[in-house]
Amino acid sequence: MAAAEFIIGASKPEQFPAETVPEIAFLGRSNVGKSSLINRLLNQKGLARTSATPGCTQAIQFYRVEGGWMFVDLPGYGFAKAPRDFVRSWKDLIESYLTTRQSLGLCLLLLDSRRGWMEMDLELKDWLQHWQRPYAVVATKFDKLKTQRDRSESMAALGKGDPTHTPLTFSALSGQGVREIWQAISTIKTNRP
Ligand code: GTP
Ligand code: MG
Repeated sequence: MAAAEFIIGASKPEQFPAETVPEIAFLGRSNVGKSSLINRLLNQKGLARTSATPGCTQAIQFYRVEGGWMFVDLPGYGFAKAPRDFVRSWKDLIESYLTTRQSLGLCLLLLDSRRGWMEMDLELKDWLQHWQRPYAVVATKFDKLKTQRDRSESMAALGKGDPTHTPLTFSALSGQGVREIWQAISTIKTNRP
């Protein structure tokens, strides 16, 4: 478990903090569980704000994490009520982060295990591959799949959407997957001796 502190919520690139340590970016649809994953990884319940209402995280939230990483909680995409202007500025902000950030070490692409790959997830994945951004896929809310059959069907569908990346299964309720996700994060070298 690592201690963490909130640094800044950036709504424009000028507000991004200096690039001092490798960054782990949390990406995915609105409500998929990005902020809940951050809280669970850091064992700090109220660190990143979570909500049942999609669109909770709006600016890019930076958290400095003990051990030498920055966790970056990105606003979610794809919720129905988002006004057009909002979608445009979301895209601009995320794109400028993902294309220009030299310190970006790993993207965690979160998918709801009940819904699998949706169009915007596939677009984002293709885009990450195009820009050669390393990423891992995380299947969230795994506790909601109650039967073994549901779980295997979900894994099969997730594998079809991206045969190159086996998803890490995760539940913010039970903590399932925390160790494996930390393992993936730990492969990203910090600048510390
Ligand atoms: P935005 O900030 O809107 O993009 O959403 P987000 O991806 O940060 O999602 P958030 O972490 O706020 O979680 C959304 C809702 O899903 C909240 O009501 C959470 O309690 C719930 N949730 C998140 N992870 C899990 C999980 O693993 N299991 C269950 N059952 N619920 C979860
Ligand atoms: Mg959030």
